[in-house]
Amino acid sequence: MLLQELSNAVSAEFQKYYGRPPRWIVAAPGRVNVIGEHTDYNDGFVLPMAIERYCVMAADRPLDGRNLINLRSTLEAEEATIDLSAPIKPGIPKWGNYVRGMVAGFLARGINPGGLEVLLHSTVPPGGGLSSSAALEVGTATLIEAVTGQPIDPVEKALLAQKAEHDFAGVPCGIMDQFISTLGQAGHLLLLDCRTRKTELIPMNDPSVMVLIVNTNVKHELGSGEYAKRRAECESAANLLGVASLRDATPDQLERARGEMSEVIYRRARHVISEIERTVHAAEGIRESNWPGVGNLMYASHYSLRDDYEVSCPELDTVIDIVEDIGYRGGVYGCRMTGGGFGGCVVALVKASAVEAISHKIAAEYKIRTGIEAGIFSSRPAAGATVIKG
Ligand code: GLA
Repeated sequence: MLLQELSNAVSAEFQKYYGRPPRWIVAAPGRVNVIGEHTDYNDGFVLPMAIERYCVMAADRPLDGRNLINLRSTLEAEEATIDLSAPIKPGIPKWGNYVRGMVAGFLARGINPGGLEVLLHSTVPPGGGLSSSAALEVGTATLIEAVTGQPIDPVEKALLAQKAEHDFAGVPCGIMDQFISTLGQAGHLLLLDCRTRKTELIPMNDPSVMVLIVNTNVKHELGSGEYAKRRAECESAANLLGVASLRDATPDQLERARGEMSEVIYRRARHVISEIERTVHAAEGIRESNWPGVGNLMYASHYSLRDDYEVSCPELDTVIDIVEDIGYRGGVYGCRMTGGGFGGCVVALVKASAVEAISHKIAAEYKIRTGIEAGIFSSRPAAGATVIKG
């Protein structure tokens, strides 16, 4: 659905719930990471794109002037309320915590959104590794900017969103998801240097290639605990190598120090060091429209995530097997798991002319092999968060 149509539908829902049209409507996209996985918290490079899936938030001031933010989601049974006259803390329902975290961040900067009635709807599949939570955080930030008329620097906005995720959702994430949801541009990938936070837009508007996203529709619960563990392992590796972060380590340095570290720490570091290199090369490949070259880097990224970093899962590997079988002749350049791992999505780079045939094949084979229906869609690189009304 086009963003404008989606926004109209959310506006109609708002009217239904609250009995009047919304005064503000904002949208923030989810993302798919083309390459550069588990590199952001190692000061490395990432290469995500915003997708045409959004968290849309419609809002108005409460008619009775109350100093509360009342949140309704079309996807949740329970409403969330934020009392602006008390200190903002994490609470229930849990989905409200992303919004609470953003409100707390803006209040700490002296920006008070004031009372609001909000209706939100999201087409970013929850728990699919496509950053539905970053879309909600960045959407909230965009809404607060709109209602207060006080836009903040986009980098600061993304960092506030990351802090909300850390402090209010308890996930020690890196900066990729919030940056792309804030700074994405239509028709471009975003090459982000997570050390300097310098960004470069990489055009990707060749009509003959498409990005296909395959949702395994599984989410393994070990996800966030294992994420924190990987972060800690990377820090150990950096300490053992005597570098500030794995961004500073070379493959040679790692090989020389191999005997001084456990096999697991060695493999974690090997993934990160090689993935940072692959990401830089993939950005070059995209600039040159070298799709087979980019595809090969994506396959290599997957194997490294599966074998060295150990964040894949049987369902993701099954999709990869199916897509690899379809192969170059069937219109596939490459594919890999995307996002934190342990479930979620595969991202594939495919010939636009073969998208339909490839999608049918994946859906049928995945159902046969796992008994699960996959969610499959393609997306062009979308724009970051925007104010649609207000
Ligand atoms: C999650 C985190 C990101 C990043 C990826 C792995 O999506 O939120 O910051 O670390 O995992 O690349």
